[in-house]
Amino acid sequence: MTKFKIFAAFFLAALCSGLPPARAADPIRIGAIEDLSGPTARYGTRIREGFDLAAQEINAKGGILKGRPLEILYEDAAGTKDQAINGAKKLLARDKVSLLLGPTLSNQMFAVGPVAVERRVPIIGTSNTADGITDIGEWVFRTSLPEADVIPVTLRKAQAKFNIKKVALMYANDDAFSKSGFEVFKVALEQAGIAIVTIESFGSKDTDFSAQLTKIKGLAIDAICVSALVEPASGVVLQARQLGIPQSIPIIGGNGFNSSKLAEIAGPAAEGVMVGSPWFIAKPQTENVTFVNAFRKKYEHDPDQFAAQAYDTLWIVAEAFERAGGTDNEKLREALLKTEHAGIMGLFRFTDHRDPASVTGVVVLSIKNGKFAVFE
Ligand code: ALA
Repeated sequence: MTKFKIFAAFFLAALCSGLPPARAADPIRIGAIEDLSGPTARYGTRIREGFDLAAQEINAKGGILKGRPLEILYEDAAGTKDQAINGAKKLLARDKVSLLLGPTLSNQMFAVGPVAVERRVPIIGTSNTADGITDIGEWVFRTSLPEADVIPVTLRKAQAKFNIKKVALMYANDDAFSKSGFEVFKVALEQAGIAIVTIESFGSKDTDFSAQLTKIKGLAIDAICVSALVEPASGVVLQARQLGIPQSIPIIGGNGFNSSKLAEIAGPAAEGVMVGSPWFIAKPQTENVTFVNAFRKKYEHDPDQFAAQAYDTLWIVAEAFERAGGTDNEKLREALLKTEHAGIMGLFRFTDHRDPASVTGVVVLSIKNGKFAVFE
């Protein structure tokens, strides 16, 4: 028999029996809503690469739930809330996924989270760092560290090194993550006894920051703190140096800065920029070295913190499916709460409120020769 005839015979047999064809190897489908185009696509594409590498490894080891492959269906949210909501609805209604990953931005999670909560499907943000993400509802998890866990650590390191007493604080006023980081900076600066000489805001789509930076240049400050996503953040960094604010005045960022795109856009102006992170590429743990090597081999570029968090998250998801013993939403939610994953971030657990409970610790990085390095 030709291959076609064999296939037709099986198909006919399945039809005649009235039963669907064998299901043992049907994929377990989950959905991911990520920014794969638009100004935040660098975050989303690295996240996708992290998920895909983990999926490849999980499936090479025989998949989950007795040999079923884990399949990720992607929807591009292109940096917008509307596309993120549409993507979530499609994945839930059309594809009947058992779990959602993403979306990339906190701004989008505040719109998409309620959809998952209403449908009672777990959703896991791997990059959402604004305050209040998991307050959206009991189906919303995140593996990313909130700004409040990271910014104060970065600030203390910078303060100790540069004897910072006065800063300018800049932020994008139209984005949930950027606004949240701004609030965290304000509190952390106050707690550290650092005076805020001026607060300057801008829009996430702005490209000209010269008015704010010219004003800042005329002030006696020791550092500039910035809460913004990577495109506007890169513009601020580049223009600050172009306008003559010297490298001796460090620029300190939040999670939006954690992308190689910053140094690509800002070039030498990005040297010395400081940011906190739960992960860094040179982390010596064996699991991390293996991950970095596998990532470089597959994609021919370095992973970033977004890729690393995504990679760990997919393993967390795979283990939760095993513990749940299937795709039942309530059991999956319960299984996620019992996570104990020894990953590249360290030992990961969720709090009862579905935020990260334990990670190895925050490390402060600064850009040296165009790459993030541990800040000494
Ligand atoms: N950490 C950024 C956010 O939460 C990407 O939007």
